[in-house]
Amino acid sequence: MLMRWLSLILLIGLLAVVAGCSDMGDKLVTPNQNTPPPDIDPTWVDDVSPIFTTNCTPCHVGSTPPTNGFDVSDYNAVITKISLAGNSIVTPGVPDDSELYLRLTGDGFSQMPPGTPLSSEDVDLIRQWIEDGAPENATP
Ligand code: HEC
Repeated sequence: MLMRWLSLILLIGLLAVVAGCSDMGDKLVTPNQNTPPPDIDPTWVDDVSPIFTTNCTPCHVGSTPPTNGFDVSDYNAVITKISLAGNSIVTPGVPDDSELYLRLTGDGFSQMPPGTPLSSEDVDLIRQWIEDGAPENATP
């Protein structure tokens, strides 16, 4: 009698393990529901310049002080400019070594635009642009 009970318990245990395994199998074949982040390749012309035109030009156009002549309407000026503090405004490939990016996050500098920071989406886009080498146009 005892043996029959034992084998019954063993059988139930075995069934539970088998059921558990098939559950795991179901989970493994379930496709990944996470959607990958959008593939963005920001360029000056398409993405960065419009943000600057909207948010920076009132103060950063032409060579008028006190903005040290940092003119956001001119691509070549933006990527070659050395800031008053002696930093590259843009170091292509290295956002954390670009005063432009540090200004947008306010990291160690007064944040730009003063009082109305850009959205985190715009800041991330400009970071991506610098990381990609700060291209003016999309490469064909
Ligand atoms: C309301 C006016 C105003 C707006 C808008 C503004 N800035 Fe400025 N910005 C200044 C002033 C004033 C300075 C100089 C004082 C300082 O260094 O904080 C400056 C300095 C800078 C510098 C350093 C320039 C250098 O040569 O040292 C950078 C880079 C900069 N701004 C980027 C931006 C960007 C990018 C935007 C737009 C996203 C922006 N600013 C919007 C007023 C403005």
